[in-house]
Amino acid sequence: MNEHDIINEIRNKTDIVDLISSYIPLTLKGKNHFGVCPFHEDTNPSMSVSREKQIYRCFSCGASGNVFNFVMDYEHLSFRETLEFLAKKQNLEIKGLKITEKKEKYQEYYDIYDITNKYFQNNLNTQLGKKAKEYLQMRNLDDTTIKEFGIGLSLKQDNDLTNILLQKNYPINTLNNIGLSNQDHDIYIDRIMFPLHDLNGRVVGFSGRIYNTNLKENKYINTKGTPIFQKGNNLYNYHRARDAARLKKQIIVMEGFMGCIRASTVEIKNVVSLMGTAMTKEQAELIKRLSNNIVLCLDGDDAGSHATLVNGEQLSNMDVNVKVIELPENLDPDDYIIKYGKERFEVLLENAINYNDFKIKYLRKGINFKSDEELSRYLDNVIIEISKVKDDIRREIMLKNLANEFNIGYNTLEKRLQEKLNNIDRKEPIKYTKVTTEKRKDKYYIAILACLYYMIENPKMIKYYENEGIIFPTTVQRNLVSEIIFYFRKYGNINLADFYTYLSNKEELLSLLNEIVSLDLEENINDSVMMEYINVVKEYNIIQEIKRLQELIKKEINPLEQAKIAERIKLLKIGS
Ligand code: UTP
Ligand code: MN
Repeated sequence: MNEHDIINEIRNKTDIVDLISSYIPLTLKGKNHFGVCPFHEDTNPSMSVSREKQIYRCFSCGASGNVFNFVMDYEHLSFRETLEFLAKKQNLEIKGLKITEKKEKYQEYYDIYDITNKYFQNNLNTQLGKKAKEYLQMRNLDDTTIKEFGIGLSLKQDNDLTNILLQKNYPINTLNNIGLSNQDHDIYIDRIMFPLHDLNGRVVGFSGRIYNTNLKENKYINTKGTPIFQKGNNLYNYHRARDAARLKKQIIVMEGFMGCIRASTVEIKNVVSLMGTAMTKEQAELIKRLSNNIVLCLDGDDAGSHATLVNGEQLSNMDVNVKVIELPENLDPDDYIIKYGKERFEVLLENAINYNDFKIKYLRKGINFKSDEELSRYLDNVIIEISKVKDDIRREIMLKNLANEFNIGYNTLEKRLQEKLNNIDRKEPIKYTKVTTEKRKDKYYIAILACLYYMIENPKMIKYYENEGIIFPTTVQRNLVSEIIFYFRKYGNINLADFYTYLSNKEELLSLLNEIVSLDLEENINDSVMMEYINVVKEYNIIQEIKRLQELIKKEINPLEQAKIAERIKLLKIGS
């Protein structure tokens, strides 16, 4: 079986109605099942699920897709993870999938990292690892934890690792390229080694900490960027935190990996670390993939609270709930848990404040409240923050508190809030392209989408399209047509549910497909209706062509040419 067959098998064995009804209640109405869409706030059953077509679609937010899309969005899984998830659910052997997975381009790199990782771990248990072991004990890391996190040791003598890998016939260039050697010498010398994993749990790098020297070296040395490891595309502990985050419906984000490891020792497993204070866009996306409920728990120092402000802002703009824990006494999470224990940390977690409240508090810093100007600027900034709060009761409470604290008329503040509310870009952060803006709903637009829809539904439409030579106005539409035709040529017919998977990494095309499917066009129409749609698009093409010629005529100075163009316009208008 090739990969496509296996994917299809998993899809065919997973009935979409059974699957979705295991998440949300569905009721049968006519041919379709209906339920409340889990992908946007709603109470109406606007999601319809078709057993026949094996797809779902929401008429309100425009989400649509097959079983894979549903699981990916609901469970926050990648495509591959979804395949595994569903295969497990159906008790399918996924082995076939692994076998047909093409041999990884970087398999050699993974192998080297794997060997290295085992080597480092082993060093820790030898005589040469005594000091390091003591250091780890001093840091309250017991053997179970050391094992769980694969903590190891690079040795003092230079080149032991490089030599071992050379003996195993790995080329020195490779060792240099993947960040284990530098100019043929070991990079990590006498450091505690923390393996870094990719999203699938493969070791792809290390962070090495000094423990045994007074030299002013970097505390940590991290693997440089390689084809299999980019610090900014990675979160420490992602692969371990994933299930816990899903279960708890929450992900805790820390700066350092010691925090992650410590939390794990007290059975708090839904934690990832940024490996520093900076959060890249990719990391933010990864965090969101783990959960929509995010708790920032960065270090309790100034750098930590500044990073909380910046990172919180970035996450807040991604349509997720962001809460904040502020650790006292400049502690980091590791220190805090050691000093105060699990229970107190859990109390902090329970009482994490909303990011908006944190920001309002943060804005206070350094403001001279005796200066009218500074106070007024501060109030203005706070009101901007309040305007971002979605719950109107909370907005009112926040505003009342502000009025009381600074003894300013509630109405004055409220007026300002209204201004801000009106100013706010009402555009909601949307996951799916919003389906129908009124302007686009004209008959031409509908006809264009209908033509595309029936090309998927009925091969005859593909023939009509090719015979009649209609042209779709946008690149995205034209690209979708090429994909439809390509798919049709390859498989002889088009299975809509499978077509979703086929388009899986082409965002723009998927979003157009969502839009088309959400139109809920009639099925099994006869040929003359299809021709009507074609004709409307033809008419549209003509109107566009006339417009183009009219523009051309304006620019043309040669009267002879002008006359020619005018003639063409005339012909187009009378339809020949
Ligand atoms: P911290 O200095 O807070 O480290 O840096 P930590 O996690 O508390 O570690 P301990 O307790 O001192 O052993 C936070 C994170 O920033 C990255 C590391 O990923 C670290 O976990 N960092 C820090 C570096 O990459 N390089 C450095 O030199 C320092
Ligand atoms: Mn620390």
